[in-house]
Amino acid sequence: MCGIVGYVGEKVALDVVVEGLRRLEYRGYDSAGVAIVTNETLWVAKKAGKLGNLEKLLAEEQLPPSGLGIGHTRWATHGGPTDVNAHPHISSNGRIALVHNGIIENYVTLREELAAAGITCESETDTEIVAQLVGQQVSAGLPLVEAMRVVCGRLRGAFTLVAVDSETPDGVVAARRNSPLVVGVGEGENFVASDVAAFIEHTREAIELGQDQLVSITPDTVKVITFDGEPAEVKPYHVDWDLSAAEKGGYDWFMRKEIYEQPRAVADTLLGRHDANSQLTLDEIRISEAELRRVDKIIVVACGTAFYAGLVAKYAIEHWTRIPCEVELASEFRYRDPIVGPTTLVVAISQSGETADTLMAIRHAREQQSRVLAICNTNGSTIPRESDAVIYTHAGPEIGVASTKGFLTQLVACYLLGLYLAQVREVKYGDEIAEILRELSAMPDAISEVLDDIGPVLNLAAEFADKRSVLFIGRHVGYPVALEGALKLKELAYIHAEGFAAGELKHGPIALIEDQVPVFVVVPPRGRDLLHDKVVSNLQEIRARGAKTIVLAEEDDDEVSRYADVMIKLPRVSTLLQPLVATVPLQMFACELATQKGHDVDQPRNLAKSVTVE
Ligand code: M6R
Repeated sequence: MCGIVGYVGEKVALDVVVEGLRRLEYRGYDSAGVAIVTNETLWVAKKAGKLGNLEKLLAEEQLPPSGLGIGHTRWATHGGPTDVNAHPHISSNGRIALVHNGIIENYVTLREELAAAGITCESETDTEIVAQLVGQQVSAGLPLVEAMRVVCGRLRGAFTLVAVDSETPDGVVAARRNSPLVVGVGEGENFVASDVAAFIEHTREAIELGQDQLVSITPDTVKVITFDGEPAEVKPYHVDWDLSAAEKGGYDWFMRKEIYEQPRAVADTLLGRHDANSQLTLDEIRISEAELRRVDKIIVVACGTAFYAGLVAKYAIEHWTRIPCEVELASEFRYRDPIVGPTTLVVAISQSGETADTLMAIRHAREQQSRVLAICNTNGSTIPRESDAVIYTHAGPEIGVASTKGFLTQLVACYLLGLYLAQVREVKYGDEIAEILRELSAMPDAISEVLDDIGPVLNLAAEFADKRSVLFIGRHVGYPVALEGALKLKELAYIHAEGFAAGELKHGPIALIEDQVPVFVVVPPRGRDLLHDKVVSNLQEIRARGAKTIVLAEEDDDEVSRYADVMIKLPRVSTLLQPLVATVPLQMFACELATQKGHDVDQPRNLAKSVTVE
């Protein structure tokens, strides 16, 4: 949560920083602020609400030109979303402006210490305490980087900090622990940010900052040290997407653009994963085949949409490999004292690679000697860095807060993992794996087919804009699809939406069915006769009680169409792969319904894209 950017160079820092914040606004939009330094003076502007409010303020205030600046867009933790609590925070001596992403856990003690020294904080934030502490250190004569290093050593919790000192106006200093920070390396200019999207229009050369490291940037230098003051090894990398990927490209919302990007994203995630003989080669896996053969349990840990991808993974992995697979909400995992050990493979799924709950879960797993494999979309982020192996999804940047192409590519990565394990453990014949890979390679076209015929879904959204409650049901892999459809609707349209396992309806939730309640029913392909028939029975049960049924089923499934008030046709695919096509209409339904209701689809209320606090 919170987006952070810092710039030093010859351009107008304010422009670079505000543009960077625009690209980071998906991380939080409770308030925004900037600070620039010129002639040894700090200039600060900050405002509650979205970035647009800050821009209005800046248009009135006209800050002087400067080549050094920092900025912040906030997802509030300590203290409400007010002007005073907005970042940057300024030290009492007027020298330090500082922005922060994360939570300082020992801030109460530190605040008391400052109070004893006669320093009173203006805001309710934990961040201001850090600004004050750094201010004390520079007043005592330490250069900014040293001051930050000393203060970081005293902080507990998660933080990315970026600071400038009005008396040393040649650079920006940033630090990180448990929170994301990347450095953008330009020519005669350098950047720090929570995410490369903030500087992608200026440079595609980046450096990952490791845990407990500090970086100081000037226009021509980038120096990285550890919290112990030792020089740190740097890991430069080239960002393989460009500015156009971080822009809307003519769509009204990033989310809609990202839904339409799914055929390409799925194809890219499949690219280069197997040879002509269908031998899977997941070369980012740094766990030996011998170790993979010893795995006797898989536990998938993830949050939100990624958790639902994990639920689908369970069906595929258990079916293909016969390895028991549990799926656990990352936020619950370490608190229940899970039984994990050296023969457990923990699979962490995270689009951002920064989700704190998931990160803490994998740290716990590694402490218990488990091997950890990350499925992640963000190169260089913390979760893959702290894992033994990674399968990167190649979805490109996902900016809409509601995950779409992130989800579909996570599914693909899970399928690939399942097949790879089946290959390594020799529990499936080569031709069986080849057949599933063939089916997977046809999925981009199948998804395109769904998108080409999306008109009825859009009409439905217009019709349902006033509904107060929508239900989703499914069985087998259709169950996580139902959960995902409901989550999309909750987070975007702010209406009550629930997903249920269709078989569970009669154990309680069927009481919710009343006249004209919309119920989306995900019907399995007819290839699984028993499963299909059971869902058809569930469909009849709810229809008999007055529900309006919106049925997602294979295009020529005549048996089911007679129970459907609305039929959404899906291409014929095999059962386990059906989520790749069945989720798409539900994503579009939520996007369109939220649009009809006049909501901000890309930045739904109370949410942030990357949840870096527990
Ligand atoms: O970045 P991650 O995949 O770890 O994020 C996990 C969830 O926070 C995320 O999927 C969230 O549920 C989305 N807003 C759902 O659309």
